[in-house]
Amino acid sequence: MADTDSRSGVTYIRDEILEWANRIHAPHDGALAASFEAPERLGLPQIQVSPLEGRLLALLLKLVAARKVVEVGTLTGYSALHMARSLPEGGRLWTIESDPVHAAAARESMRAGEVGDRVEVVEGPALDVLPGLELHAPFDAVFIDADKGNYDRYGRWAGEFLRSGGLLLADNAFYFGRILENDPAAEAVRRFHEETARTFDSVCIPTPDGLILGIRK
Ligand code: SAH
Ligand code: DHB
Ligand code: MG
Repeated sequence: MADTDSRSGVTYIRDEILEWANRIHAPHDGALAASFEAPERLGLPQIQVSPLEGRLLALLLKLVAARKVVEVGTLTGYSALHMARSLPEGGRLWTIESDPVHAAAARESMRAGEVGDRVEVVEGPALDVLPGLELHAPFDAVFIDADKGNYDRYGRWAGEFLRSGGLLLADNAFYFGRILENDPAAEAVRRFHEETARTFDSVCIPTPDGLILGIRK
């Protein structure tokens, strides 16, 4: 899987290789393109997952036949649209977003992608919103991608409300490359790794910024 260079962290990913792979495995239709481009168009931070990562989320949900999914951190709904398209008839995605401008753009993405009936964009700080979702538990998958300083709390919530065999996913597992530094958010993400490794069968997929994958024991 890796030669000596890639084992030590060198990547073969370059712009043109990534664009080529995106085109083959994660081509955008109109709605995916619109939600992917929305942050730039609206002057918002362009911090959505990559097309291949979005596709990976979608396929992982299909693998566990996910029907009930929670996302923490919506932005303009690009990852949410990928995941919503994996849900079977009657499935539901709750995606949490604290910024009302982001939430409004995400609702428009869901409408354009014709998944508005199966996605609820829940507006508010995730720690306030999550308790209100507990009545829908157990969940089949939780994707964490919001404020890094709360990853440990979000991970504990997922551990409590995922079904056995359910998926925990989290972006920015390397905390923008600062995971080993001494700041409170880095420490929270490190705790999240350690607790996840105890409570889940887990791995950290070395995407550019790391993607945690856990299966609830
Ligand atoms: N998952 C999205 C990207 C999310 S970016 C995608 O891949 O398309 C992170 C988002 O989390 C931002 O929109 C930010 O406003 C939101 N966020 C940050 N802190 C939050 C909190 N405490 N509760 C809910 N959302 C939060
Ligand atoms: C930021 C957040 C993310 O989820 C990400 O993938 C990249 C950047 C940020 O808050 O800057
Ligand atoms: Mg992220």
